[in-house]
Amino acid sequence: MYYRPSPPLPYSPGSALAAGPLPFPPAMFAALQGWLYRSILRPLLFRVDPDAIHISMVRFGSLLGHVAPARWAIRRLFSYGHPMLRHTVRGIAFPNPVGLAAGFDKNAQLAGILPAVGFGYAELGSVTLRPCEGNPPPRLRRLPLSKGILVHYGLRNKGVARLIGNVRGMRDRGMRLGISVARTNDGGCRDEAESIVDYRECLRALLAAGVGDYYTINISCPNVCDKAMFLRPDSLDRLLGALASLHPRAPLFVKMPVDLPWEEFHALLRVVVAHRCAGVVIANLTKDRENPLIREALPASAEGGISGKPLASLSDVLIAQTYETYGDRLAIIGVGGIFSAEDAYRKIRLGASLVQLITGMIYEGPQLIGQINAGLVRLLRRDGFSSVAEAVGTMHGKARAPLPPFSGNHITVSATLPSHRQAALTK
Ligand SMILES: Cc1cc2nc3c(=O)[nH]c(=O)nc-3n(C[C@H](O)[C@H](O)[C@H](O)COP(=O)(O)O)c2cc1C
Repeated sequence: MYYRPSPPLPYSPGSALAAGPLPFPPAMFAALQGWLYRSILRPLLFRVDPDAIHISMVRFGSLLGHVAPARWAIRRLFSYGHPMLRHTVRGIAFPNPVGLAAGFDKNAQLAGILPAVGFGYAELGSVTLRPCEGNPPPRLRRLPLSKGILVHYGLRNKGVARLIGNVRGMRDRGMRLGISVARTNDGGCRDEAESIVDYRECLRALLAAGVGDYYTINISCPNVCDKAMFLRPDSLDRLLGALASLHPRAPLFVKMPVDLPWEEFHALLRVVVAHRCAGVVIANLTKDRENPLIREALPASAEGGISGKPLASLSDVLIAQTYETYGDRLAIIGVGGIFSAEDAYRKIRLGASLVQLITGMIYEGPQLIGQINAGLVRLLRRDGFSSVAEAVGTMHGKARAPLPPFSGNHITVSATLPSHRQAALTK
């Protein structure tokens, strides 16, 4: 698949974290923000139903995004910019490698405020061709002991026409936009052929509108009927073939599942590579309730996939294996359980060119994005890299100079997995 390189975004140095005239060091200021969030705001927010909070936060964020002084103040408070963070992936120039993962801003209401918070890009959606109610409530459940969220949205969103309208209504964004495309989960796609048409028409609408710097084809939502339809290589082959016939002029990524054994995962990667997609997003939510990192006792009636810490090492291992197998032939966007700069850096050194998060921001606060970016600059410098690009995949031994030990994460891949998955990996 072919696409045009994008022109670079104007460089924004950020923020209080970067250079502001503060009475104390910027890192200390961010740590104070995080402490205030965790000790005052989060306990209040966590008293309210998570779905209701999410809706209110999106409305509030959308409102702030339309007010220039609010954007300015938030940028000063939260965001961090540095030339070392600029990173071009598949022709797209990202101001930094940290993005918002799909599912938080399903209808493109927040793109005004997200760059001020410090994101280099956001993956909007998942959006579907038709508006979609998703699953009945409860759709979200916090798992504070596990630092995760049980998600059962079922692709609830207002449809591609609304998303396009919202993106067009935005002014100067200062960040890149990915758009995650999924199959409408309203019972209208009765079989594979109808599902392919549904995906295809959704992508066609986005391409016709010229909206989006890249597109992610979400084949791995664990909360829809017939969720395994495109997790079969032959079906995925037909889907990607149909999408390729649209000749997308922006890179296509595929959002991968996390719960497949490597052989089945690899079979999907082969199809992705055969269609010359730009890369993969690793990974979607886990449904594996045997994971010992899930510390809450979940009743069988609590449906959904789990985000956050229980996902982190599962996604790390798949990133590492994908990078080891395909190297630079697939750009990897690493997602799952990023709560710190160290978490993001580990995914980059395992092979991710970009990273994304949602759950870490909900548990740690919005200052986390600036903290991760500032922390990445510190870690890159510590290890003698001058850019993010130089660090990608260096845990696999292509580092230029001997690296200092990296907080216990040298890649014995199986050692990072929960024990019940290690056996599966070494099979
Ligand atoms: C509330 C919520 C909604 C989500 N919705 C989607 C979605 O619509 N499409 C998708 O591809 N992934 C969705 N995800 C999965 C995330 O994009 C991401 O893969 C996962 O949450 C792991 O990242 P995290 O641990 O940083 O949250 C959702 C996650 C959360 C928490």
